[in-house]
Amino acid sequence: MSAPWLVVGKGAIGLLAASRWLLSNQSLWLWQKTPQPLSYRFSAGGRDFAMQLQNAVQGPFSKVLVPVKAYDVVHVVQTLLPHLADKAQLVLCHNGMGTLEPVAALLKPGQGLWFASTSHGAYKPHALHVIHSGLGSTVLAPCNDAARCSETPIAAELTQALSPLTLVDDIQPYLWQKLAVNSVINPLTALHQCQNGELNQAQYQAQIKALLAEFVQVAAACGQQFSEDTLYQLVQQVQSNTAQNFSSMLQDVTAGRRTELGAITGYLLQQAAAHQLSIPTHQALYQALEAKLAPWQL
Ligand code: PAF
Repeated sequence: MSAPWLVVGKGAIGLLAASRWLLSNQSLWLWQKTPQPLSYRFSAGGRDFAMQLQNAVQGPFSKVLVPVKAYDVVHVVQTLLPHLADKAQLVLCHNGMGTLEPVAALLKPGQGLWFASTSHGAYKPHALHVIHSGLGSTVLAPCNDAARCSETPIAAELTQALSPLTLVDDIQPYLWQKLAVNSVINPLTALHQCQNGELNQAQYQAQIKALLAEFVQVAAACGQQFSEDTLYQLVQQVQSNTAQNFSSMLQDVTAGRRTELGAITGYLLQQAAAHQLSIPTHQALYQALEAKLAPWQL
């Protein structure tokens, strides 16, 4: 059996990965703020499983999945640093952008950094129940030299947790494409408190097209080329495929949690400002949510 993975936090995607690993006999530990064993129910493909995860007792940890929200990543990695092996491999997995550079700067030269961008759907109707609600896929890429040179079979082992998985050289185009989708669906559904599918209604189309036109300009300034039409079709397709879903941002708003607005629309606004671009439709959407949410939810 291979060395255990450490899964950080109790988020839906982390517990989805942990559950699929446990079901394929991969040994693993859980890392949480309050160290205690976790018993929970995992529902997938019409079946229910009783799962148990043990809290990590001792490092050094050599393989770590960090599926926490973008705004928590840097703090969590700082907390983990003293417990990481010199050649540890860390895999980030979240919506939004802006974490890779600060995390890379924290790691030792031998410690690898990866990003897994997944479209699997999972949610927790309550704290001790995880539902695999949508079969998706995952794109994984090494994001520093230590990951590119690593002999640890990260892709093969992560395939058990988040399959089907494609290993690519450069995660940036995939992160930007996901950012395009998230920067439309997440803030709009959070603002209008609607299911993803409702955004296919005629009344939203002009705003969605304007958001995507601005997105394409910012992405181009950052070296990523996209066509507005292709992105518009992609957004419509995601809205139709996930028509009954409540986006992660709407779920956060409803539950009174902090949202990923900063790592999604906020990241776009920062990049636009850095390149002296004006993106008024995203700006207005950010301000509309700012007016609606508590300051700590931004
Ligand atoms: O964040 C989410 O909810 C999802 O990434 C997406 C694609 C918007 C579907 O709900």
